[in-house]
Amino acid sequence: MREITPKKIMEMKGKEKITMVTAYDYPSALLADKAKIDIIFVGDSLGMVVYGEQNTLNVTMEQMVYHTRAVAKAVKRGLVLADMPFMSYEVSVEEGMKNAARLIQAGADAVKIEGGYDHRKLVKRLVRAGIPVMGHTGLTPQRYLRLGGYHITGETEEEIEEILRDAKALEKAGAFAVVLEFVLADVAKLVTEEVKIPTIGIGSGPYVDGQVLVWHDLLGIYEHVPPFVKKYADLRNIIQLALENYREEVKEGKFPSGEYYWEFLDKDDFEKKRRKVIERLLGETFDEEV
Ligand code: KIV
Repeated sequence: MREITPKKIMEMKGKEKITMVTAYDYPSALLADKAKIDIIFVGDSLGMVVYGEQNTLNVTMEQMVYHTRAVAKAVKRGLVLADMPFMSYEVSVEEGMKNAARLIQAGADAVKIEGGYDHRKLVKRLVRAGIPVMGHTGLTPQRYLRLGGYHITGETEEEIEEILRDAKALEKAGAFAVVLEFVLADVAKLVTEEVKIPTIGIGSGPYVDGQVLVWHDLLGIYEHVPPFVKKYADLRNIIQLALENYREEVKEGKFPSGEYYWEFLDKDDFEKKRRKVIERLLGETFDEEV
């Protein structure tokens, strides 16, 4: 069992800020775990940042299982959380249970679903079956078509009520935490004060119990990032420059230089071997009918 458990995440509320970052492959997960990030999250955002889709709606269970397996192999300390993709839990509780189990069997410690109130039965059943669940309210990207794009939430009374109702329903159903995505900071604060489970914000200000960011955004891999993202590195330019240098050095014959290859020190020895091989090959290959 990994060091960070859902119970430990719950105990951090009000005591210590929770850190969460997405990771979709083995090397990223290794680094995130080494950095002591509490929750390493295989998000369905992989559809956009890894597979180049416009939204998350095409992400499949197969992709989630595949990436979860890679991440789970790397993580020793943090909690591995896997996202339930679009339509993997909406059709029925039974289907949601089976799909959640696949992610757990791929190595996840917990699953995340988008929504709250509407999925309270599923959350209850999963928790009863031993599968820890994180909910997600505010902006829910899997409802992208209905929402008509990605925008801030919590402006109207109806939206505030929906967000709070989702968080309360998740708490009651046994979820161990809830993501608040792109929620006005006052509303995120209200929810954080009203529920006993930790709130993890993204674009929702500082009055929450933890923060989550997408790997590619925080590391500056893409030029355009959502407005709430702080880029902690500029990997895009670093990687670009490295690739351009590599290309240039190969074109100019500068790479590989002496320290990157090995050759016979005894050239006579090589010459003897070369002759034998050539004689053998010419004898065999050119005399025989193929
Ligand atoms: O898939 C994802 O990366 C997410 C985060 C934005 C919370 O759901």
